[in-house]
Amino acid sequence: MKLLAGNWKMNNTLEEGADLMEALIEGLSAEAVGDVRVVVSPPYLQLPQTVHALWENAHIAVAAQNGHAADGGAFTGEVSMAMLRDAEVDAVIIGHSERRQYFGETDQDVSDKVKSALKHQLIPIVCVGEVLEQRKAGTYLAETWAQLHAAFASVKPEDISDCVIAYEPVWAIGTGEVASAAQAQEVHAYLRAQMEATFGVSDMPILYGGSCKPSNAEEIFAQKDVDGGLIGGASLVAADFIELVRILKAS
Ligand code: 13P
Repeated sequence: MKLLAGNWKMNNTLEEGADLMEALIEGLSAEAVGDVRVVVSPPYLQLPQTVHALWENAHIAVAAQNGHAADGGAFTGEVSMAMLRDAEVDAVIIGHSERRQYFGETDQDVSDKVKSALKHQLIPIVCVGEVLEQRKAGTYLAETWAQLHAAFASVKPEDISDCVIAYEPVWAIGTGEVASAAQAQEVHAYLRAQMEATFGVSDMPILYGGSCKPSNAEEIFAQKDVDGGLIGGASLVAADFIELVRILKAS
């Protein structure tokens, strides 16, 4: 399955978010999208208007950027998976490196969130990736697999097929530095093989994320184990995101 997801991160006013969505809807007809599953992930406050704007565009799905594992309760400032489902959100990004780095999210948090997302029929988009020191030390395969293993360790294998994995090397996020196609393929193939060996599941999409843009996407998307992208900066520019869908569709 080919999948392109845009992570808008903490950007845009309500109006700017609506304008971006309008441009995406115009450029991403069912025909333009073809067999590519497209996901947009706006900040929480823009989720309702985005869901509303997409009511007649079932070929574009909406993801939240985070969600709390508890169904409700005294967790000031948090939004539960149950609330996201109630708002008709389809998916949720879990364990993004920015959540791990800046908000102290642990592998245990990620595991709890994946379980809660599945319980509420949200598709988890589980992010893993190594930091630069781990890349340099040559431990990146073990590090990324350890994150992924922890995320799925207590999930039923039949539910894992419903999940999406995103490999996002931290050193490539927002830095302009992109993993080479060979670097991406190496990690994707490894993670897929480990998923098969450990859980007996290997058909979930594995996305690449990290400074992916129209100028470098063709080579990355052409890799056998790269099923699409999780796009940050370039997803805020409608023309770039639409072009990325076209490149993925043609890959
Ligand atoms: P950039 O595409 O801006 O590097 O961000 C990638 C990312 O973090 C997507 O989740």
